[in-house]
Order: sequence, then C-alpha cells, then structure tokens
Amino acid sequence: MAASVPFIDLHPMTALVKAQVLDRWAGALSRCELVGGPAVRELEQALAARLGQAHAVACSNGSDALILALQAAGVQRGDHVALPNLTFWATFEAVAQLGAIPVLIDIDGDDLQLDLAALARAFEKVRFRHAIAVHLFGWASARLSELRAFCREREIFLVEDGAQCFGVTSRGAPVLAGARLATLSMYPAKVLGGCMDGGAVLTSEPRLEHLVRSLANHGRASHYSYDHVGWNSRMSSAAAHYLLELLPHADAIVAQRRAAAARYRAAAASWRVRAFGPPAGVDDNGYLCVLTCRDQAAAAVAEQLAERGVATARTYPETIDQQRPAAGRFVLCEEPTVSRAFVTQVLNLPLFFGLSAEQQATVIAAASAVLD
Ligand SMILES: Cc1ncc(COP(=O)(O)O)c(C=O)c1O
Repeated sequence: MAASVPFIDLHPMTALVKAQVLDRWAGALSRCELVGGPAVRELEQALAARLGQAHAVACSNGSDALILALQAAGVQRGDHVALPNLTFWATFEAVAQLGAIPVLIDIDGDDLQLDLAALARAFEKVRFRHAIAVHLFGWASARLSELRAFCREREIFLVEDGAQCFGVTSRGAPVLAGARLATLSMYPAKVLGGCMDGGAVLTSEPRLEHLVRSLANHGRASHYSYDHVGWNSRMSSAAAHYLLELLPHADAIVAQRRAAAARYRAAAASWRVRAFGPPAGVDDNGYLCVLTCRDQAAAAVAEQLAERGVATARTYPETIDQQRPAAGRFVLCEEPTVSRAFVTQVLNLPLFFGLSAEQQATVIAAASAVLD
C-alpha cells in the first residue's frame, strides 16, 4: 500500500521558523508589543520592496484587504464592479459587502484568468467604473498589460486580487509591481502563509496608502477623531513576527513549489488530462497543480486517487454565478461557458512546500495508473 499523501501539509513550513519565531514572540511579549508596532512596519516595508510597490499596508486578512482596496478605489453602494466568474468567493463577497453589484466575466480557456475580450464586451453594456483582476492559481493573465491599459484608457479603476500570487513574476518583475492597487493574503495555506490570518494592500500612490491605512484603523485622523467610517483590520505583532522569519525563505519556497508544479505538468503530458500553467513570460509560484480531466469525471478520478492514498482537491467545484448566495446579486452579460465547463472537470494534486520527492513520486505513480 502506497504511503498516503495529504493535499496540503503545513508542518514543513512551520518547522522552518518555529524556534526563531518563539524567540521573537517572547521578546514581543516582554515588550508588550501586541498589535501593530515595529514588526508590522518592518513587514510592510519588506512586502512593498519584495512586490515592487512603494507602500504596503498590513491588515487582518486578504478578504479585508480587498474591501479596503475597493473602498479606497471609491466603490460605492449600487456601483457595478467587474470580476471573473472563476475566483475564490471572497472576491465576490468584497464587492457585495460594499453594496456594489458584481458584473461576472468569463475566463480565458488557456490561462484561466479574466477574459479581456469578454470584459470589453461587458463594458459596452454596463459602463462599470471598477474591475478586479484575480491572479489565480499561482500565475497571471497572458494579457495583463493589455488589461491594465484597457482599464486605464477607459478610466476603469483596476484592483488586483493578488491573494494567490506571492512570488509570481511577469517578464522577471513581481507581477503586482505594475498594479495601481493590489491585495495579498497571507492565510496559512498561501505561498507566503502566516501562522494566522494576515493580508496587505499594496500601492505606489501615497493618497491611496493613507486612505487604506486610515480605513483599516477605524478611519482615524487621530486617536478619537475620524476622517472615514472604517473598521478594525489591524495586524497583530505576533502575525508580523512569524512572517518576518518566513520571508528570507520565500525564494526557496517558491523555487521548490515551482519545480514540483513543473514536474507534475511534465508527467501529465501522458495522462488523459489538460495541465494548466503560466503563459509565456510569466513564472508561476507553484501555488496549485491545475488539471482538467478529459474523459473521466473529476470526482471519480479523485476517488480512485484517494483509494491509492493520494488526497486531491477541486479548486473550484462551482463558478461564482452558481453559488447559492450569489443568486439575484450579480449581472451576467453573456453565458460564462468557459468557467462553467472548467469547474466540472478540475482536479488539483498535492502541492505544498516540503512535498518530498518520494511523496511526489507516489502521486505521479497513482495518477499514471488512473489517468494513463
Ligand atoms: C483569490 C482570493 N481572494 C481573496 C482571498 C481571501 O484571503 P483571506 O483568506 O486571507 O481572507 C483568497 C484566499 O483565500 C483568495 O484565494
């Protein structure tokens, strides 16, 4: 019986930094450095430098980062905001939480990101002033520069949901470097995953940085006077200390995940699947191994792999427009046939920092037996 391989295992990542983090936490506790403080500031500077932006504002999680960014971008109740029909639910939620109306756009069948042509057609019908690009699955759109230019020329404020894209580069530069306003999630399962929830908003515009920083701290002007109605989305010092210990390992983490993702894609060439990966010019971060099953039901393949000791996931099993709480809350300009077909077939194999060569060999052998 083959060894069992989990879909994700965070032990290798926490083991990398545990001893140093405990020292840092002891120091922070003795200094009563609890919420915000120097570690959060240092993390913000490190993230901004690493992601090619002038400013990063740390916040409680990637979902808050999106709401902060959309609010700073001027989204108001009743506004239309375009976003891809294939993304994590939080992208939709952020728009809905602000009382705005999501305009769901289909994805490109090759890179699985927002389809620029579909966005352009939707814009002819719904003159939205805001859009969200999501850099999904650990890479980014082949047409990202065109998308940014399209939005700039039409005065559409483009917010980039970078929750999954830490470590992704486009023509050698961090993919978020070209964004006007972008977000990051440091949820534990992410490539730069913390030991608790965490997020950040990135920008090079000082006005947006000040606005986001104020919104994340009750809209404060000073301690008891307020410029905005914000909320509390501050980051704890403990979260920042953990991430500061992890950051020096980020290149090694990305390199290892990227290599493992490439090995899966090479093996998948002989399987009855389509394997997805970054388009030309983009280097992925190995966040996910994304396959679509060609002639077998993805759920049945998942079951057969489980019988062989390999856990899998299906990211995502439904599109946004198919989610029950979305009903009646969005605009769809045309049938999202590409995203709907994708979700019926998608299958993800185990991919995490510390996936050993033996574990990956087990997965590949099991997948070969089921999919060859
Ligand atoms: C695309 C996308 N957007 C937003 C989020 C929300 O991030 P968080 O879980 O940190 O709130 C996630 C993460 O789960 C995500 O994958």
